[in-house]
Amino acid sequence: MTHLIYPTTNFKAIEQITIERGEGCYVWDKEGNKYLEGLAGLWCTALGYGNQELIDTTTEQMSKLTFSHMFGGKTHQVAIDLADKLAEMIPMDDAVLSFGNSGSDANDTHIKLLRYYHNAIGKPERRKIIARERSYHGVTVAAASLTGLPVTQNHFDLPVDALGILRTDHPHYYRGKQRQESETEFVDRIVDNLESMIIREGPDTIAAFIAEPITGASGVIVPPQGYYQKVQAVLNKYDIMFWADEVITGFGRTGNDFGCTTMGIDSPDMMTFAKQLSSAYMPISASAIRRDVYDAMIDQTASAGAFGHGYTYSGHPVACAVALKTQQIFQRDQIFDKAAVTGEYLQKRLTEFADHPLVGEVRGRGLLGAIELVANKQTGEPFVGGAVGGYAQKMAQDNGLLIRAVAGSSLGFCPPLIISNDQIDEMMAIVAVALDATLQHCHRENLLA
Ligand SMILES: Cc1ncc(COP(=O)(O)O)c(C=O)c1O
Repeated sequence: MTHLIYPTTNFKAIEQITIERGEGCYVWDKEGNKYLEGLAGLWCTALGYGNQELIDTTTEQMSKLTFSHMFGGKTHQVAIDLADKLAEMIPMDDAVLSFGNSGSDANDTHIKLLRYYHNAIGKPERRKIIARERSYHGVTVAAASLTGLPVTQNHFDLPVDALGILRTDHPHYYRGKQRQESETEFVDRIVDNLESMIIREGPDTIAAFIAEPITGASGVIVPPQGYYQKVQAVLNKYDIMFWADEVITGFGRTGNDFGCTTMGIDSPDMMTFAKQLSSAYMPISASAIRRDVYDAMIDQTASAGAFGHGYTYSGHPVACAVALKTQQIFQRDQIFDKAAVTGEYLQKRLTEFADHPLVGEVRGRGLLGAIELVANKQTGEPFVGGAVGGYAQKMAQDNGLLIRAVAGSSLGFCPPLIISNDQIDEMMAIVAVALDATLQHCHRENLLA
């Protein structure tokens, strides 16, 4: 009997596979079976497994300074260096950053920063946050309230009403279009809905709009051309901040440095990072805000005695050292440029599955993609629940590929950024086997509509 409570797991299906070691783009289970990592762990191991430079950096930093906190005036150089490096890289002018340990807590930090800032500037009523349906922003009480997936809210009595989360349409044309609507008409309708909600709620009560430039856990939704430009025009009209959650899309994942660049999002006001920030070698996250927002809070922290927020491990020196080294490797080895090229190859290979009888839609950008499995290819009717996606995931795993079924029956792909074209071919050969096995299963079980 285990003493563990497993995260995001069906408690009747625990301990299905024990991963023991990893190297490059592969991991091995305890029976010695080898798997190609098609999801970079959980969308995070950008530089793959066993990178010696990152291991050495961890050891060196551990020997130098295992821990030091950053409360009340104490600091250490590596955290300052990492903040400087990120400020230089990210698509915001002169950003200021707070460090945490996970994407979820970084999003919580942002909610508190928004409140603190609006209190400081005498606009305490500006506190609501617009989040989208089918979004994923994490699982702490506040982040799960932002997330738009039932599994993170049902039975937890979430969202918390006091957080003032408003919900707007997801930008997934394939699933969201009405009848013969074109992509442009779809975008115009959902952006009109957004504006109507802002007017109905009162623009002065809304602080920010949060979006993953391309979603991950909710099925890799790539919004249609022009969506973000129209959303940003509405937000600018009402002085509502654009908050980009780049926990998955950050650092070369989508064919550019950041998802905002890929999707043409102009200078976000706030950004969240985690996962590939350190290539997942150490837990670390970052919440970036505009310099003027930071400046506006300074007097309030002085009169309160402190900005009363921060974690023991905010700016943990070992995590910062590893994240800084990760960024240096990204730059030195031109990882983003190379990943853009392999990303195009991945998208091309994924598109070859578009004709498969089970595939409703293939989508993605760069090294992030999904194949949505449907019960009826002609109508796009989805499978009920996630069992078919789960079956395909298992078939892939049994044939040596780790991927993840997300948002019901979409298969998510997000290999390490260092994957080669040959390894993408290896991945696609297994996907073909898994899809055919799943199709046979659907025929056997009468699951097609
Ligand atoms: C876009 C996004 N935001 C936030 C999170 C939460 O990150 P964490 O699991 O590190 O708390 C995730 C996790 O997958 C994510 O994809």
